[in-house]
Amino acid sequence: MRAITIAEPGGPEALVLAEVPDPVPGPGEVLVEVTASAVNRADLLQRQGRYDPAPGVSPYPGLECSGRIAGFGPGASGGAWSVGDQVCALLAGGGYAEKVAVPLGQLLPVPKGVDLTTAAALPEVAATVWSNVFQVANLRPGETLLVHGGSSGIGTLAIQLGKAVGAKVAVTAGSADKLAACRELGADVLINYREQDFVAELGEHGADVILDLVGAKYLARNIEALAVNGRLVVIGMQGGVKAELDLGRLMAKRAAVIATGLRTRPLDEKAAIIAAVREHVWPLIEAGVVRPVVDRVFPLDEAAQAHRLMESSGHVGKVLLAVRPA
Ligand SMILES: NC(=O)c1ccc[n+]([C@@H]2O[C@H](COP(=O)([O-])OP(=O)(O)OC[C@H]3O[C@@H](n4cnc5c(N)ncnc54)[C@H](OP(=O)(O)O)[C@@H]3O)[C@@H](O)[C@H]2O)c1
Repeated sequence: MRAITIAEPGGPEALVLAEVPDPVPGPGEVLVEVTASAVNRADLLQRQGRYDPAPGVSPYPGLECSGRIAGFGPGASGGAWSVGDQVCALLAGGGYAEKVAVPLGQLLPVPKGVDLTTAAALPEVAATVWSNVFQVANLRPGETLLVHGGSSGIGTLAIQLGKAVGAKVAVTAGSADKLAACRELGADVLINYREQDFVAELGEHGADVILDLVGAKYLARNIEALAVNGRLVVIGMQGGVKAELDLGRLMAKRAAVIATGLRTRPLDEKAAIIAAVREHVWPLIEAGVVRPVVDRVFPLDEAAQAHRLMESSGHVGKVLLAVRPA
């Protein structure tokens, strides 16, 4: 099969389309013929040699895909899925390829009303947003959710899910155009982080839940912005990993700081998250309440261009890689 390989860690030119052996599905795994994959920030780090896949995981980038089931590994057949079924899947790697082996628990049906290529935009963001905003931070109706990077792949889904459960949603983004896109998705409070102070803009109550992808640079101000009993969930560290934590401020608010990563979670936790996504998020997509936001689709052999786009932050929502015609 063809896959995007990382010849030598480095810039986008490190992504090289090459002929490689087909993956062989192991016990409990399903072979998927990939229709499309999506670019995630983590792929940029992997390309740079700063986020290696775990041992035993495909060396090719790609944390999600859509496609058709092509076969089953030992013990994986006989259940709900058949060869030819259209699926999308959360991956630990290997999505930038014509075929990938997927643990059974990480498969999802393609939601009704979503085409097979677009479905590649959903598994990673849905699993990340659902697990962090709802399972970890327990966002409730009437609460305020602050989403940093509201126009990101993650942010565009977080806004919609926050609104779908009846929360007030505030976002930060770096331009007026991106904030306008967030408003179209339902965001109530729009904050240009280059010009405004999000702590001040949130007002006295602050945010009950903050979904943060900046990390160290925002830690102190995120805690200032938290409401009493607030929950700060850090999922990205684009602004560094180390910062001073004022436990006094945290204690005064009876607040919590949590940091989680999806990729390294054990298989049973990922399967539980995927099951919850299917139960809670898929019906909202099928009802048209929540929609995938796709900026652009590049052919697989233009993966380097797709990485350049994400690195320039010139996108809103997801950047996809089309591997074969849907
Ligand atoms: N922990 C996990 O399990 C997990 C899973 C998935 C993703 N993530 C993380 O979630 C983040 C988003 O991922 P993605 O794939 O959706 O990437 P993406 O679309 O490229 O989004 C990156 C976003 O970061 C925003 N940003 C940069 N600096 C900012 C700042 N100072 N304040 C507010 N926003 C800022 C950018 O906004 P502007 O363009 O407006 O500057 C952009 O929207 C990444 O950090 C990724 O690593 C974590």
